[in-house]
Parts: sequence; structure tokens; C-alpha cells
Amino acid sequence: MKIKPGADDPLERVAIGLNLVPLPAAYALYGLTAGRVVGVAQQLGIFARLLTGAATAGRLAEELELQEAGTRLLCENLTGLRILEQDGDTFSLDERSRKWLDPASDTYIGTFVEHTASYWEWYGDMARIVRDGGSFEIHREPAEEREYWRVYITGQYEIARLSAREVAKAVRLADRPSALLDVAGGHGWFSAELCKRHDTLQATVVDLPGSARVGREIIASAGMSDRVAHRDGDMFESDLGGPYDGALVFDIVHHLSGEQVVALLTRVRAVMKPGGTLAVLDMFRSDGRRQRASAAALGMLFHLTSGADLHGPGELASYMREAGFSEPKRTKVRRIPDQDLYQATAT
Ligand SMILES: C[S@@+](CC[C@H](N)C(=O)[O-])C[C@H]1O[C@@H](n2cnc3c(N)ncnc32)[C@H](O)[C@@H]1O
Repeated sequence: MKIKPGADDPLERVAIGLNLVPLPAAYALYGLTAGRVVGVAQQLGIFARLLTGAATAGRLAEELELQEAGTRLLCENLTGLRILEQDGDTFSLDERSRKWLDPASDTYIGTFVEHTASYWEWYGDMARIVRDGGSFEIHREPAEEREYWRVYITGQYEIARLSAREVAKAVRLADRPSALLDVAGGHGWFSAELCKRHDTLQATVVDLPGSARVGREIIASAGMSDRVAHRDGDMFESDLGGPYDGALVFDIVHHLSGEQVVALLTRVRAVMKPGGTLAVLDMFRSDGRRQRASAAALGMLFHLTSGADLHGPGELASYMREAGFSEPKRTKVRRIPDQDLYQATAT
């Protein structure tokens, strides 16, 4: 995915083409606004209110106990992003946005958007982190911070369920597999989709207590607690159980250094049956080439939150070999073109 300001009319298109527009200023100014208004509108309940019907800024402000001037500006910005529509003074949710912002939709991602509103603290410290190093270590947040973990893991679930069925189809397990390990599986939804595909399968999700608590609730409300069990624990220290026919290591290696990935995969290998499948799903750096804008943006996010970065496919292959797995094979998942699924066998 590209990230760039778009021309509003032909004149602007020509001006951008001729380099007459100070694009660094446009990114600095409008990028900042775009990200923030979406998260704040979700936090303040603007989308939830507009789902019940169109309203003027004055009406929204009165019902949500906000100030009218700021509410109008929020709505005008959201209209500029085509998330809202405007008819005179009245704002409504754009039809295309409903799919993503209506909690009744099975493609709702509102909690994920809400979580992005908390990213600002991390981005506010970017200069310090780039200059001096360090990171926010988001996974060290205490388990007692229930709201923190609820918003984080529910948001991850909302994103995961958009692709989980297709990912589950792409994961190659032996015939009639019985046991699956989902390391740092959080919500557990990838495991749930795999269990739906394989009626003999039981999954164990190992995750930190704050995350596992939310995951257990998500799995219980889907009626799948008899198939997907959460186990509280640090993946580097706790008993991972086993032996397993397959292991998922999804969206976690980007929070780890290379040495940590090898240590984790070595622990995973130790609890797998020979011939079992290791599946790693993540975003990856392009080896030795210019990075996609989305990969660079996510690399920075993981750097701020964990001091890490995306890894390259070549690096992943060497971590897997070192941990006792075969050469990984890549599977493209159509639903998530920015991510890759790599699968290898426990040798
Ligand atoms: C980005 S989420 C990914 C969740 C899920 N695997 C997915 O693909 O959507 C990262 C997960 O790693 C978990 N995690 C981070 N450090 C961990 C550790 N040391 N032990 C176990 N889980 C950990 C977090 O609690 C969180 O659930």
C-alpha cells in the first residue's frame, strides 16, 4: 500500500507533477490530521452515533456532550477522507464505511481504529528513540490493565478475522491432526479457523495473561472453548505443552530480534512431532531492495513498540534452519497481500 497525498483537482495534479507543491509539508500536516481524526472519532462515539442516522454537528455535539466547533471540524475532516458524507450541514456515514465501522458487521474494525488513538504517545517519542534507542515495550504492560489489553487484542482479532479463514486453508497440516500450538496467538482466532477445518484438532494458545484473558472471552463467545484453550505464559519461559502436529507463529517475530526468533523457534521445535508443520505469518522486509511504504511504516511501528523491525525472508529461512526446521516455502494469501505465510517442517 502506498501512502501519499492525492490531488483534489487537475490543477493540483499538474502542480504535484511539476514539483510545485511542498509535499514534505503536506505529509507532515495532513498525515498527522488524517490518522488522528479517525481514531478520535471512534473514541468519541461519532461513528456509533452516525450509524443510527444522519446528524448535524450541533446535534452530534449535544448528544455526545462535545463542543460543536470541534465536532464540525472532525466531521469535515472525515468527509475529506470519504469516511463520512456531507449534505448541507448534515453528516452521515458513507455506505462503504459501514462495512468497517458498524459493530454488527463481521468485518468491523472499530476497536482496532480505537487502539490507534493510543499510538500517539509512541510516535510522539520517535525522535528520542531514533536518536537514543529504546522502545515502549508494549507487551510489558501489566495484566491488570484490563482495558489496555481488551482494546489491543480485540483490535488484533478484528483484523485477523478478515483473513483467518483463508490463512487456515493455506496452512498444511498432516491428515487428521490432533494438536496445534499457537504461540503468542492472543485472540486465538487463527486457531479457531483451523479447528473448524479439522474436526480432530485441539489448539493451545500460549500468551501473556492480559492477552490470554481477552482471547478466552473471544473464543468463549464463539462457542469454541472446547477446541481452543488459552494457556497463560511467557513463550520464552513457560511450558509449551505438546507434542504438536503444527505450530503457528503469527505476527510476533516483528516484535523480536533475530536471536530471540531463533530462541523461540528452537523452543517450538522441541515440542513438535517430527514432520510437523511450522507456519510463520508476518510482514517482511524486502531483502536488499527499496521497502514498500507500508513495510517501512510497520517496521517503524514495531521499532517504537518493541525496539525491533520486520525481518527479511532470507533471515527467516536461516532462523528456521538454525532451530531445526526445513527450508520454508512461501504461500501468498490473497486477502493479505502485504503479508506472507512461510511454512516449514520439523526435521
Ligand atoms: C500482534 S499480536 C499477534 C496476535 C496473533 N498471533 C495474530 O496474529 O493476530 C502479538 C501477541 O504476542 C503476544 N506476546 C508478546 N510477547 C509475548 C511473550 N513473551 N509471550 C507470549 N506472548 C507474547 C501479545 O500478548 C500478543 O497477543
